[in-house]
Amino acid sequence: SKGTYEHYMLKEIDEQPNVMRKISQNYLNDDGSMNIEPALLEEMKKADRLYIVAAGTSYHAGLVGQNIFEQVADVPVDVELGSEFGYHMPKLSKHPFFIFLSQSGETADSRQVLVKVNELKLPSLTMTNVPNSTLSREATFTMELLAGPEIAVASTKAYTAQIAVEAVLAKALGMAKGLDDAKKFDVKKQLALAANGIQTIVDEKETIKKLTADFLTDQKDAFYIGRGIDYALSLEAALKLKEISYIHAEGFAAGELKHGTIALIEQNTPVIAYVNDGVGASHTRGNIQEVKARGAHVLVIASQKYAEAGDQIIIPEIDELISPIISVVPAQLIAYYASLARGNDVDKPRNLAKSVTVE
Ligand code: M6R
Repeated sequence: SKGTYEHYMLKEIDEQPNVMRKISQNYLNDDGSMNIEPALLEEMKKADRLYIVAAGTSYHAGLVGQNIFEQVADVPVDVELGSEFGYHMPKLSKHPFFIFLSQSGETADSRQVLVKVNELKLPSLTMTNVPNSTLSREATFTMELLAGPEIAVASTKAYTAQIAVEAVLAKALGMAKGLDDAKKFDVKKQLALAANGIQTIVDEKETIKKLTADFLTDQKDAFYIGRGIDYALSLEAALKLKEISYIHAEGFAAGELKHGTIALIEQNTPVIAYVNDGVGASHTRGNIQEVKARGAHVLVIASQKYAEAGDQIIIPEIDELISPIISVVPAQLIAYYASLARGNDVDKPRNLAKSVTVE
């Protein structure tokens, strides 16, 4: 039930610190061992490439996971939209392993890929919030997201849970391979930081509500920009905003602005810039200056480490690899308050269904 909440979405945003703790308790033991099926790790060790298949927000969680698996488990990763991949399957690697990311476990676009993967007798894992779902039953292995029922159409806690479970699995795979990068990646500590960091942001709701009123009232368009990990995040941030506020929002790689998009910047166009990615930080600062010079109204969401005077939202300490777990939360809240201010049906936006069971 919604309890005292007016909307499921806000309740689900607020639940995220607990979801992080639950994932940690369920998968990570105090002695450093992990509760992951050994057969799953054996199968994944054989893979020369992981193919993450998903749709919508789950696809965006896959883009974040790509980076984590590549860094921590030293395996190349492709992230694919089910609706594209199934019908335009590229030449696969010699030993592919498929990961299906799906909150509902019922997404038809992903399922048609799994049907083909099974015909080819290739190994697969479904990460889902619904353990008895179709994708879960039909894949070789399953991992639960443990986010609890997600009712709002706009996915929030499933996204952060997916990134957390990807991080857990990447750690386990890297450890099974005996990799130093995996040893260095303290996933238990990171999930604790994630829980605390999300809590810090949700405690700043009133500030974020005011920023939303300041930046997004009467606006038709908005842009999220970032580099690297922040680019992947910008795509999710923009999807959240468009699906419930109906503001036209786009997520861009900050470096791509000058290749066309910057033409759209007018006096007062909202640009929300993410600065969590260390390698990209100084270049993104340059892009912020460029859009400001053309009149953009810029809101900066920066990690503690790269923050500058004047940045409006500061992201508490966390490993960059999983930083979207915290830094997505301001975007979830911005979308929520923008939708609320427009009088939209926050939990049931027009034209959308919670689970998309048609191709
Ligand atoms: O249940 P799934 O994770 O497979 O759903 C995939 C998308 O339909 C879903 O993430 C959708 O994009 C959400 N409405 C986004 O908030």
